[in-house]
Amino acid sequence: MKIVFISPDDFAPWRKPLRLNIPEADVFAWGVDSIDENEIDYALVWKPAPGLLARFRNLKGIINLGAGVDALLQDHTLPQAVPLVRLVDERLTSGMVEYMVHWVLHFHRDLHVYARQQRARVWTQHDNADTQKRRVGILGLGELGQGCAHALLMLGFESLSGWSRTPKDLPGVRSFAGEDGLKPFLRQCEILLCLLPHTAATQGLLNAETLAELPQGAFIVNAGRGGLVVDDDLIAALESGHIAAAALDVFNTEPLPDDHPYWAMDNVFVTPHIASLTTPMSSSEIIAKTIRALENGEAPDNLVDFDQGY
Ligand code: GLV
Repeated sequence: MKIVFISPDDFAPWRKPLRLNIPEADVFAWGVDSIDENEIDYALVWKPAPGLLARFRNLKGIINLGAGVDALLQDHTLPQAVPLVRLVDERLTSGMVEYMVHWVLHFHRDLHVYARQQRARVWTQHDNADTQKRRVGILGLGELGQGCAHALLMLGFESLSGWSRTPKDLPGVRSFAGEDGLKPFLRQCEILLCLLPHTAATQGLLNAETLAELPQGAFIVNAGRGGLVVDDDLIAALESGHIAAAALDVFNTEPLPDDHPYWAMDNVFVTPHIASLTTPMSSSEIIAKTIRALENGEAPDNLVDFDQGY
């Protein structure tokens, strides 16, 4: 079996974990090793150049080395008959849970206010908001959103809600769904966590109209995709104070351009797409499991539905 690794990231940390988990495979690094494209069975990819995957004529599977497949699906030459699998990994989920819980606590406990106070040498105490009553909403209740819900419930955030395309029955999470459910959901989110995939249906979902539905002084954390947000509209809402602060890990253009307003805004926290990073060791186990399923003619977990876009 022959596997090609195509990613802007370094292949070196992957070599050993892949050999351990898929000892029967020869793994080649695109751009490094010499490769006969017709001999490759599986491609492990992160943001391959558009058109590249179409050159591998005998692929049995494409495995995305991240949760979001939006970049891949923009490649109109992507072979549609080849199963495409996205990465769902406990480590990826726990990384995201850490990131989201961090910002929920940060905003819930006014740490953004105290950071400002420190710079001005101000000693003023503010009442702690009631954790049970703090209304946190999760936009997107897939694997990552459910992981966050679970952790937040354990911390006592009992006024938790979630929005998804179709209703989800999750203990402790008030479920909103579909287009009709979006505005009622947003109206009651004091802290909004965005974890939706970027698809044709979610492009620009957070815009002037929808942001206006959030309560005055709401907080936003986006670790889904930059394309969910209309930046000019979010900037206007942050400038007016309608949105008190935002923590953003993903952007319409990455890296975030030097002259982008977000960098300098006092109420914006920018991180460089690090909310959750793929780790070679845990991912290699999932990749091995996926390849075994495909080799056995079984449907692997987390097969991408091309029509839904995730
Ligand atoms: C990262 O953004 C991912 O899709 O896993």
